[in-house]
Amino acid sequence: MITHNRDLSIEFCSIRFPNPFLLSAAPPTDDLDMVRAAFEAGWGGAVLKTTSVETQPVDLVYPMMSALHFDGQRIMGLGNIDLISEHHIDVVEARARTLKTEYPDRVVAVSIMGSSKQQWQELVRRLEATGVDFVECSFSCPQGSMGEEPGAMLAQSADATERVAGWVKQAAARCPIVIKITPQVTDVVKVAQAVKRGGADAICAANTIPSLMGVDVDTFVPYPDVQGSSTYSGLSGPATKPITLRTLAEIAKNVDLPITATGGPVTWRDAVEMMLVGAGTVQFCTAVMHYGLDIIDDLQDGLAFYLDDKGFDRPGDIVGRALSRIVSHDKLPRDAKTVSSLIEERCVKCDLCYIACRDGGHQAIKIEAPDRLPKIDPDRCPGCRLCVTVCPADALTMVRKQETPDDAGARTPADNDRI
Ligand SMILES: Cc1cc2nc3c(=O)[nH]c(=O)nc-3n(C[C@H](O)[C@H](O)[C@H](O)COP(=O)(O)O)c2cc1C
Repeated sequence: MITHNRDLSIEFCSIRFPNPFLLSAAPPTDDLDMVRAAFEAGWGGAVLKTTSVETQPVDLVYPMMSALHFDGQRIMGLGNIDLISEHHIDVVEARARTLKTEYPDRVVAVSIMGSSKQQWQELVRRLEATGVDFVECSFSCPQGSMGEEPGAMLAQSADATERVAGWVKQAAARCPIVIKITPQVTDVVKVAQAVKRGGADAICAANTIPSLMGVDVDTFVPYPDVQGSSTYSGLSGPATKPITLRTLAEIAKNVDLPITATGGPVTWRDAVEMMLVGAGTVQFCTAVMHYGLDIIDDLQDGLAFYLDDKGFDRPGDIVGRALSRIVSHDKLPRDAKTVSSLIEERCVKCDLCYIACRDGGHQAIKIEAPDRLPKIDPDRCPGCRLCVTVCPADALTMVRKQETPDDAGARTPADNDRI
C-alpha cells in the first residue's frame, strides 16, 4: 500500500505517465492478466513482450534461466536465453486493445521485431490501429535479430540502426517510436546518433548484456545446462546497473532524445539514479521476476519522499541533474587531497580495512594493541578509498588532508599530475 499522495506523473515523448515506472518487455508482460495485475498494483505502464508477424517461428528452449549468485544474493544477475514472445501480433493486437480500453490512464506499449522492411512496417501499422501509446523496437536481443544477419544485434551496427529506425518511423503515423539498443558496442553514442538520424523519437537503453553465466566444474557444462549444452545468456538484474548508468549518461550527454532506462533497477534509489543521469522513465523486469509486482509501492513512495526531501516539484525536475558532474578523467580536480579517517564507535575490528590496505593499497593502516583499532597514517594514505569500500560497518570516511603551509609549498603542479 502506498502512503504518499503526491503527483508523480511525468511527460515522456508527449505521453503522460502516471508515474515513471513501467514493466519492460519480458515474461511479466507476456500475459494479459499479468499486465492487468500490474496496472491494478499501480505500475504506470507496460511494454508488452516483443512480438512478431504470424509466420515467424519462435523456437524456445528450456530451461532458459540461470543466476549469478554472489555473497548471499540469489540474483545478483539473471541470465536468460529466452527469445521473443510466442504470441504473435494477432494475439498482442487484441491484448493491446483490451488494455487500452480497460486502463486508459496507463501507458500501453508493445515491443516488436521484424525480419524485413515489410514486416517492421506491418507490425507498426497494426499496433497503431490498436491505440497503443508507443512502439518499442527491439534492436538488441542478445540471441540476435531476425533478418539479414541472424545472430547479430541490429543495434551493433549504426548503419543498420539508422536504416531500420527509418523504416519503422516511416510507417508510424501517430505513435512515438522507441528503439531499444545494446550497451555491447564500442561507442554507444554513435548508435544513439543513428537512432536520431533514423527519425525515431526515443531510446530504450540498455537491455541485457551477452554473458556466459558460469560453468559447472563437475560436468563442464556452462549454465543454463540444456541437456549437456549451453549458450550465451542475456544478463540482467543488479549486476548490470553500473553499465546501464554509464550507457544512459553517455547518450544523455551527447544525443538530444528522451531515454527510457532498462537494466538493473531494483529499488526507488536505483530508479532515481537512472533519472539523474538522463532517463525520463525507468523500466523494470528482473526485480519484478524476483520480488513481484508489489515493489511498485516502494518505488512510488521512495520517489515521493525523495522529491519532498530534496524540494523538487515533479519527477521531471530530477532528469539529468547529475550529468554536469560527469567529466572526462583529465578534467577531474586534483588539488584537494583526502585521506581516510576512522569513526571509532562504528568500528567492529574485523581488520578488513587493514588487510585491504596492506595487500591491495598503500600500507597506510596499522592495527596495534591495546585497542586494536585501525590507525591511519595520513602521510602514507593517498586517499584511494579502498578501505572505505571494504568496511562493512561504514566506520571509515574520507576527510580533507590537513596540509601544513610547508606541505603546500613543497608540492609542485607536476606532483599533482602524478596523483
Ligand atoms: C526472461 C527474459 C526475457 C526477456 N525478453 C525480452 C523481450 O522479448 N524483448 C525485449 O526487448 N527485452 C526482453 N528482455 C529484457 C528486459 O526487457 C530488460 O530490458 C532486461 O531484463 C534488463 O532489465 P532488468 O535488469 O530490470 O531485468 C527479457 C528479459 C528477461 C529476463
